Amino acid sequence: MRDSDLIARYDGRVPRYTSYPTAPHFTPGTDALSYAAWLAELPEGEAVSLYLHVPFCDRLCLYCGCNTSVVHLEQPKRAYARMLMREMEMVAACAGRRLRVSHVHWGGGTPTVLPPDCLTGIMDCVREHFEVIPGAEIAIEIDPASLQPDRLEALARMGINRASLGVQDFDLAVQDAIGRHQSFEQTAACAQALRGIGVRSLNLDLIYGLPRQNEESLERTARKALALRADRVAVFGYAHVPWMKKHQSLIPEDTLPGAAARFAQAKMVRRVLEREGGYIPVGLDHFARPGDAMAEAALGRQLHRSFQGYTTDAAPALIGLGASAIGSLPQGYVQNAPTVPAYGAAIGQNRLATSRGVALSPDDRLRRAVIESIMCELEVDLRAQAAAFDADPAPLLADARALAGFKADGLVEWDGTRIEVNEAGRPFVRNVAALFDRYLAGQAQAQTPRHAVAV
Ligand SMILES: C[S@@+](CC[C@H](N)C(=O)[O-])C[C@H]1O[C@@H](n2cnc3c(N)ncnc32)[C@H](O)[C@@H]1O
Ligand code: SF4
Repeated sequence: MRDSDLIARYDGRVPRYTSYPTAPHFTPGTDALSYAAWLAELPEGEAVSLYLHVPFCDRLCLYCGCNTSVVHLEQPKRAYARMLMREMEMVAACAGRRLRVSHVHWGGGTPTVLPPDCLTGIMDCVREHFEVIPGAEIAIEIDPASLQPDRLEALARMGINRASLGVQDFDLAVQDAIGRHQSFEQTAACAQALRGIGVRSLNLDLIYGLPRQNEESLERTARKALALRADRVAVFGYAHVPWMKKHQSLIPEDTLPGAAARFAQAKMVRRVLEREGGYIPVGLDHFARPGDAMAEAALGRQLHRSFQGYTTDAAPALIGLGASAIGSLPQGYVQNAPTVPAYGAAIGQNRLATSRGVALSPDDRLRRAVIESIMCELEVDLRAQAAAFDADPAPLLADARALAGFKADGLVEWDGTRIEVNEAGRPFVRNVAALFDRYLAGQAQAQTPRHAVAV
């Protein structure tokens, strides 16, 4: 089938499945009390992961879909650092012991806009309240255009060993259109400086589908990215959701590439990374060098999906700290109040800042496993999954009837039990996962668009 026909058929709005149920289905019924009880029940012995959200940036990129805002004053940053540390104390008190931690991820926003003593102070606080195990991954998201030398020293003291650099596109016309200027040299110097302080694994973020992008410009960007020799590259499709992110409406819609152009751009970046760079495709939108832990995890079926996208982190619980941060616990998901004032108000009153979440039902757990397997491994055995959860496979098999169309289009192998998404189907893996999303089935999507386009 031709690309244009596939795009016409599958370019609906589907979630990225960084959780199941997805965040729009969280409700206030799961609150701080539920969260406190869940923390107290965390299984002994198994290490957990921490996610620290810093919702501040030095600049606001027009395409940005993250929970962040531009803050230049130091006082609110210091106040936020104190809130994070207080929240950590409360979480540790609820857990009732010093939890072992295998992964710490600093995300945002741009965490390095915090003053250096705040960064190191928060990390010291992590080590005080949690037992960060030797060899733990300590990762941070970095904007190469705003990394100051004093922050680099702080990162070294914090023991950061993995970093993710935002690039998006090196083309000047695209950078003008997205309000984000960043030269190749600046990015290369940042990568080199990070390697110099012991960062052993580097990731780059690229985006296709941005305003004024075309295949030629993206090909140049992808080749420049190769020159940076990153261990991993994430290639996201631009999610244009101006009904949720008002500043995105500053991007004129007529400068955005259409579905066919987006598809061709994604294909082209993939070709450069795989054929010229030797990267291995991982899931929907990641690429990793052979030998990198993520490449190994993908090959060894050990890959996972979390709010940060694909991860090698297999910890059973992810504790989210900070405004809007989402936690994933064995019992379900919790999300903190989304704004800094609402988050700060709760923490200031010595309350956990949970504003919504969802407790997992047995059906949610089964479908979550099915969807994670499709998203990470591109395959799943529906009967085996149902058996693992002691569940009747019939509802899954009923949902799977829609696979006939995917099979006829050459995107999946399907024998009535096992689904295997093939290479042609990889760009549509979310559409396959969505077949098993019970919440999506009941949603009138056309009237209330919540997700970005699939292709
Ligand atoms: C928190 S930022 C990365 C760190 C740093 N703030 C920076 O921009 O360099 C996370 C990443 O999300 C991606 N991103 C942000 N908004 C997006 C959107 N609307 N669609 C797709 N990807 C997006 C970008 O690739 C960005 O690098
Ligand atoms: S892309 Fe990064 S730097 Fe730009 S606004 Fe979003 S979080 Fe901030």
